[in-house]
Amino acid sequence: MENKTDHFAHKSKSWDMNSKRVKNAQGIAELIVKNIKLGIEMELMDFGAGTGLLSFFVAPFVKKIVAVDNSPSMLREFHSKCDAFKCETEVIERDLSLSSLDRQFDGIISSMTIHHLKDTLDLFKKFYEMTRPGGFIAIADLDTEDGTFHSDDTGVHHHGFDREALQVIAEEAGFENVRFDTASTIKKPHRDFTVFLMTAEKK
Ligand SMILES: C[S@@+](CC[C@H](N)C(=O)[O-])C[C@H]1O[C@@H](n2cnc3c(N)ncnc32)[C@H](O)[C@@H]1O
Repeated sequence: MENKTDHFAHKSKSWDMNSKRVKNAQGIAELIVKNIKLGIEMELMDFGAGTGLLSFFVAPFVKKIVAVDNSPSMLREFHSKCDAFKCETEVIERDLSLSSLDRQFDGIISSMTIHHLKDTLDLFKKFYEMTRPGGFIAIADLDTEDGTFHSDDTGVHHHGFDREALQVIAEEAGFENVRFDTASTIKKPHRDFTVFLMTAEKK
């Protein structure tokens, strides 16, 4: 049985009101569009889509985005906005740490989510199964940080990621042509945090 604790229930309504979050998602989306050849026939998964900040900016370039997230409250916000998305959308409530999806996508995009899952190799193996041959992953998250990014660490399993270590994990899962770029910098009063975009292919 899936764990039904919704760690984002108290944040979902105001999630999009944080302009730094919106700017971060837009920066990640712009880099995905620059680095990946997207096509209007493509169906993507947005893993940990939340309220759809990343999906919104990628939508004009693809046919469909499937929002996968384990938070019903965040997915309600996604669903309430879906008329504004410039592509088809579908919402699936699923905790990928517990079970995979029996679907395949042309690509998997994700922003600021993988630090919420403990077992990154297990997650990337699931991503590999869910990516069509010739498809891609484009995963954005924090570079290694000192643990001060989140004021509340509930549900946070990684204080960012070391790029080289993450590349080893992605390759162990089967991905090739792993590449990293810096997608954005999130400025907080006490310090700046950089966000990487990792792209990789399934041959
Ligand atoms: C920090 S939010 C990012 C939301 C969105 N991608 C964005 O950039 O605004 C992380 C999201 O990942 C989801 N999430 C966390 N753990 C998850 C899991 N095990 N399976 C599916 N979604 C998960 C949360 O519910 C939340 O919506």
